Amino acid sequence: MSRDFTIIVFISGRGSNLGSLIRNQANYRIIEIISDQAEAPGLALGAEFDIPTKVFPATGFSTSKARYAAMKEHCASRSPSLICLAGFMRIIPADFIEAFNGRLVNIHPSLLPLHPGLNTHERALAAGDSEHGCTVHFVDTGVDTGARISQAGCAVETSDTPDSLAGKVLALEHKLYPWTVNQIAAGNIALSGGKVIYSDDARFSAASLGFKLF
Ligand code: GRF
Repeated sequence: MSRDFTIIVFISGRGSNLGSLIRNQANYRIIEIISDQAEAPGLALGAEFDIPTKVFPATGFSTSKARYAAMKEHCASRSPSLICLAGFMRIIPADFIEAFNGRLVNIHPSLLPLHPGLNTHERALAAGDSEHGCTVHFVDTGVDTGARISQAGCAVETSDTPDSLAGKVLALEHKLYPWTVNQIAAGNIALSGGKVIYSDDARFSAASLGFKLF
């Protein structure tokens, strides 16, 4: 695994995407796991894989502003090549996002721009979508509005429920997120002038795996 392209992963809960990012490190190295929740089950992966963890709990700071200022300072001191949000369930303030502009990515469980925000599987079913899936995108100051990088989709069957869709989409997330981060780390995907650009290698690899690029 590359020692050069370093990543901090932000989580709030279970951490299954974190687990997939850890297990698929090829071109990048995860240097730290950060959580806003001391009880996040995903933090246990830090001990398992010998990756440092750090928690920024709401109770530790007098204001949300102070909390994010501390997180920003901490992350800047680590100089990560990329920060990956993986089920980080908080809106990150604009000044943090601007400090890491082009170095902050997220995975969202819908085919954006469809269904930003929460309860995406329920909403895909309620809308009668024939396809559903997940998106990796750069983070901007909106909610799930940043430049899309990659998507993986699946058919919605008449028998699907929110739970069955969640299971199908999560399995796609576990493939799409590490693939995308490995491609970014290899220099095959980059943000340039607000637009995502791809190498031929990235396009070929995505096509062979059934991932959509933009
Ligand atoms: C995933 O569905 C991700 O797309 C969303 O939050 C969920 C996190 O799951 N942002 P996990 O903690 O990675 O298991």
